[in-house]
Amino acid sequence: MPKNLEVVVVDPDVNSRADTNRALTIARFSVSGEAGYGIDAVTMAKDKNPDIIVLSMEEPVARATQTMSSLADALPETPIIVYSSLSDAASVRRAMVSGARDYLVKPPRPEELARAIYSVLEYEERRRTRLTGETASSAARGTVITVFGAKGGIGKTTIATNLATALCKNTNSSVAIVDMDTRFGDVAIMMDVVVEFSIADVGRNIESVDRESIGDYIVKHGSGVEILPAPLHPTEWGALGRQHISKVIDLLSQTHDYVVVDTPGAFNELVATALESANIILLITSMDIASIKDTALALEMLRAAAVSDDKVKLIINHSTSSNSLRPEDVERVLEYEVYWRIPHDVAVSNSNQLGQPIVLAKPYARASRAITDIAYSLSGLRRERKGFLDRVLGR
Ligand SMILES: Nc1ncnc2c1ncn2[C@@H]1O[C@H](COP(=O)(O)OP(=O)(O)OP(=O)(O)O)[C@@H](O)[C@H]1O
Ligand SMILES: [Mg+2]
Repeated sequence: MPKNLEVVVVDPDVNSRADTNRALTIARFSVSGEAGYGIDAVTMAKDKNPDIIVLSMEEPVARATQTMSSLADALPETPIIVYSSLSDAASVRRAMVSGARDYLVKPPRPEELARAIYSVLEYEERRRTRLTGETASSAARGTVITVFGAKGGIGKTTIATNLATALCKNTNSSVAIVDMDTRFGDVAIMMDVVVEFSIADVGRNIESVDRESIGDYIVKHGSGVEILPAPLHPTEWGALGRQHISKVIDLLSQTHDYVVVDTPGAFNELVATALESANIILLITSMDIASIKDTALALEMLRAAAVSDDKVKLIINHSTSSNSLRPEDVERVLEYEVYWRIPHDVAVSNSNQLGQPIVLAKPYARASRAITDIAYSLSGLRRERKGFLDRVLGR
């Protein structure tokens, strides 16, 4: 990490800018330049070429987001952290789509700024190393599959738990699932396991956790899938930052062939880390207009974060029986190819309620077959077609 990190502050409000400068100075950063929005900010930032840009975003947000996009174009390697008095999800999302790497609520405190700056720069450093192929450690890594969707209740956890189970059962692979639903994780309930430790416990001991000891926090499901549950209380997520999540996923990927990450129907910096750590992102959408609209935004956001389309696989999950749209309509509206469709299947809810992955409880149910096919497709293995007798005898 470079010493004497240089920060440029972009904030049209002179008082708020002075407060931020003060907080940065207390946190031992050097403020090398300051400006309001627009061309002034871009010229000054290009001139100073700082390590990081800290930018204020207030209503109306258009000037801030335009400035952010111009800064991102002018200095693509320089991360931008936004601070704002707006704390609603839509504002956070707009900032992230426009290129922000983190979002702090105003007035940012010195320790918050320091934590955000170090964690964003650390991540950038790792990303650059990854891009140049010089990984820090030579350890082999499994495939990280992050299950993401722009909305709640569209089947993300159903797909994550069943995909993990199908990978374990059919591809003879070691599989871990991480419950990153930062509100109320459901993985342990859907797989009916008793939670003793959670990701928050790993976070508390992050300095000492390594690829061996992370196993102590995991609960094993009968299928062989290893589960790192969400904390029982959502407030426990507050102590976890980007660095915790990326270390957890990295360690698990060193010890498992697949790491499946379940996420909430909301976007935050922890989810951003899970997306950045992914080799494959399964972007789930249901077939209603609201979900398609949010999926369009999610695709936009992923592209803004420089996630390549090759990584992102769009899955339509018919989580309800309504069928107002056709898959072709979805492809046309989103201008994105549908990777897979999971049919509506009443057996899904029953299995979820019993805490049994449907791919185990009812392997020949329509939804099970679709999810098992996804597991085969992702693993590159060919599915063995079974005859009628095998199916009747459950072989
Ligand atoms: N293919 C399907 N057929 C029928 N029901 C489904 C299907 N997929 C999901 N469901 C049902 O939809 C509901 C929501 O599923 P799930 O909890 O997996 O969604 P989620 O996206 O993880 O939600 P949240 O964002 O709240 O965590 C559940 O009742 C589940 O049983
Ligand atoms: Mg869920």
